[in-house]
Amino acid sequence: MYLKTIKYTGIGFFIFILCYSPRCSAQDISKKDRDKYISAMMRNMTLDEKLGQLNLVTPMAKTGPFATKNINLKIMDGSAGNVYGILSAGSMHSKLMLADSTRLKIPLINGLDIIHGYKTIFPIPLGLSCSWDTIMIEKTARVAAIEATAVGYNWTFSPMVDITRDPRWGRVMEGSGEDPYLGGLIARAMVKGYQGPDLKNETSLMSCIKHFAMYGAAEAGRDYNTTDMSMISMYQNYLPPYKVAVDAGAASIMTSFNEVDGVPATANKWLFTDLLRNEWGFKGFVVTDFNAIQELMNHGVAADTKEAARLAINAGVDMDMVSESMIATLKQSLKEGKVTINQIDDACRRVLEAKYKLGLFQNPYRNYSPDKAAKVTLTAENKLLAKEAALKSIVLLKNDNKILPLKKETKIALVGNLANNQREMFSMWSFTGDANNVVTILNGIKKQNSNVTFTLGTQVNNDTVFNRKNFEKYDASEQLKMEDEAVNLAQNADVIVAVLGESLGMSGEAKSRTDISLPDCQRNLLKKLKATGKPVVWLLINGRPMTIEADMRYADAVLDIWRPGTSAGDAVADVLFGNYNPSGKLTMTFPRSVGQIPIYYNHKNTGRPYIPGQTEKFVSNYIDEQNSPLFPFGYGLSYTSFSYSNITLSDTLLQGDKRTLIASVQITNTGKYAGEETVQLYLNDKVASVARPVKELKNFRKIMLQPGETREVSFKITLEQLKFYNSSLKYNWESGAFTVYIGTDSEDVKEAKFTWNK
Ligand code: GLC
Repeated sequence: MYLKTIKYTGIGFFIFILCYSPRCSAQDISKKDRDKYISAMMRNMTLDEKLGQLNLVTPMAKTGPFATKNINLKIMDGSAGNVYGILSAGSMHSKLMLADSTRLKIPLINGLDIIHGYKTIFPIPLGLSCSWDTIMIEKTARVAAIEATAVGYNWTFSPMVDITRDPRWGRVMEGSGEDPYLGGLIARAMVKGYQGPDLKNETSLMSCIKHFAMYGAAEAGRDYNTTDMSMISMYQNYLPPYKVAVDAGAASIMTSFNEVDGVPATANKWLFTDLLRNEWGFKGFVVTDFNAIQELMNHGVAADTKEAARLAINAGVDMDMVSESMIATLKQSLKEGKVTINQIDDACRRVLEAKYKLGLFQNPYRNYSPDKAAKVTLTAENKLLAKEAALKSIVLLKNDNKILPLKKETKIALVGNLANNQREMFSMWSFTGDANNVVTILNGIKKQNSNVTFTLGTQVNNDTVFNRKNFEKYDASEQLKMEDEAVNLAQNADVIVAVLGESLGMSGEAKSRTDISLPDCQRNLLKKLKATGKPVVWLLINGRPMTIEADMRYADAVLDIWRPGTSAGDAVADVLFGNYNPSGKLTMTFPRSVGQIPIYYNHKNTGRPYIPGQTEKFVSNYIDEQNSPLFPFGYGLSYTSFSYSNITLSDTLLQGDKRTLIASVQITNTGKYAGEETVQLYLNDKVASVARPVKELKNFRKIMLQPGETREVSFKITLEQLKFYNSSLKYNWESGAFTVYIGTDSEDVKEAKFTWNK
């Protein structure tokens, strides 16, 4: 039943409740109508019903230590107004129907971690970010939303926009790397892709920005560890992607596990009320991370559950993920006058607003339709997009003697534990991904070249150290046999393709590593393969930058394929055989050794910068390692080569804020293959009131060039790009000298200087 106008006051509303279920009312998009609708509903809600809306439960214990007990009962009695992690599409509808048996029939928000695809799996986010292709990334999020909403989900805990400078942290795979500008663009693309133009559209999936805030700066890369940083660094380096995602309209945001300036995020009023709501104008709701309210006691800021829940709601948290602390204690705190009914009402209202915006009151099942799901899931187009995404995320790290691309008829020995494993093309976040649909690397190669033999060659991990329980069991005698077989196979081939790196269980949440090199058993195999004298192509599969400097010498070519997803094999084969010329560019620095971490391109100069080649001792460097990374941010080779002209500036001395500056370069494809280049623009502010990074990415452009073709690329340099946070956290630009860099990565650049005065 569809009612155009209803007076929700007094007796009118009472009659309305008796006669119609609330969802039958008109869903006029105007805020006024929404407020009226929700106010009317809330007037009729008991305190228990309100607290139920703040409660998020899960039947899934895959991303935290436990699952919620008695979910069905809790949904039916209204004490659980939201759910996530229902993995079986079959039980989805029945769960959603449970909410129908509550007094007010308030529908459920129904979430899931849909991180890089639902059934069609795209490359991991870190891989996707190496495409620098925000339009394509938006499309991947759209496809995930279309597939997931057809099964009844309406919420995803994505995008993770945490800036990451420490590859020991296992979760770097879930983000877009180290740069706040690129990270922001990708965050926006993902929010738009999930949510579409309007949340109420049936294929719109509500996004959740996470983890607010600074979770990526966990000390020593150890998951859930403390973070501690200056306000300037927060504002300059870490907060921008969250802000962009807020501005893009993300309807929810998740607290992070770490503390921010001494106060755990989940209890941090400055973070959620002063900054997020008051300064940034965030209008959505705040959900905690898994059990984060209870964990306030471990942090040492709450003595008991009651205090923890009170701190959270005081901070501005609206929804409690699985700890059930709010539902258990807020009533008592209200009685004691420690929280106010306004606080509970505000939180409840924000959750109901999200439900209203999603159109759930009109139709709690929204897009749920098994028939539709079958039609829109894992379609040929979706797989094609997964292939495009995998192609664009692959980064060519090395290509000695131009051994790549391979000729189609080349006799290949394919070696590697992960080379013919469907599930291994996914990540720990692909709970719902359909592995049966994955094209393995072996099968992808076979489709294009039947001249391929395959053997595992090695186990993934020989690590038996305590606490590495996620790793597979290692059998030393089996290993020798495997290596021998691989060497035999290699001897009869023209080229060896070795798929080596991290297995699915080695990156992701709670997967921090202190040693991010190739496991010894895999390295031994690689050495033996190289000793055969045959050319070796190493396909590196990984969820993080790895310390592979020493191992690089055992390979003639190295392609970083990340964790490529559903169309893995098709993409890899296209790159190997040159149907696609690799164009990915790293979004996270590869260190030479763990001791260099944290290592990132936009670092400061320091008072004693090391200048390569100098002999002065008292400078900022190591006595046993270079300062420079193995591969810098922005790095990625191509089968062709590009040459850059010097930079031409339209002006070198500018005055006032009405001026514009154009920086141009000519780029020529000097090789034999057509190729795509990502032209990167960086700026440096030479003298300012606070120390500024040596370089910051401010713009980029992707261009396709035919062999011999030259194109001019011009960038407008704006005052906005010269702005930064000073020590009073004022965002502005300062007069003076600047350097502009344009190049193929953050190190290999041309430069020009200009002065811009007020
Ligand atoms: C976790 C994660 C978070 C995830 C949540 C729900 O522990 O930190 O990213 O969304 O649980 O699964």
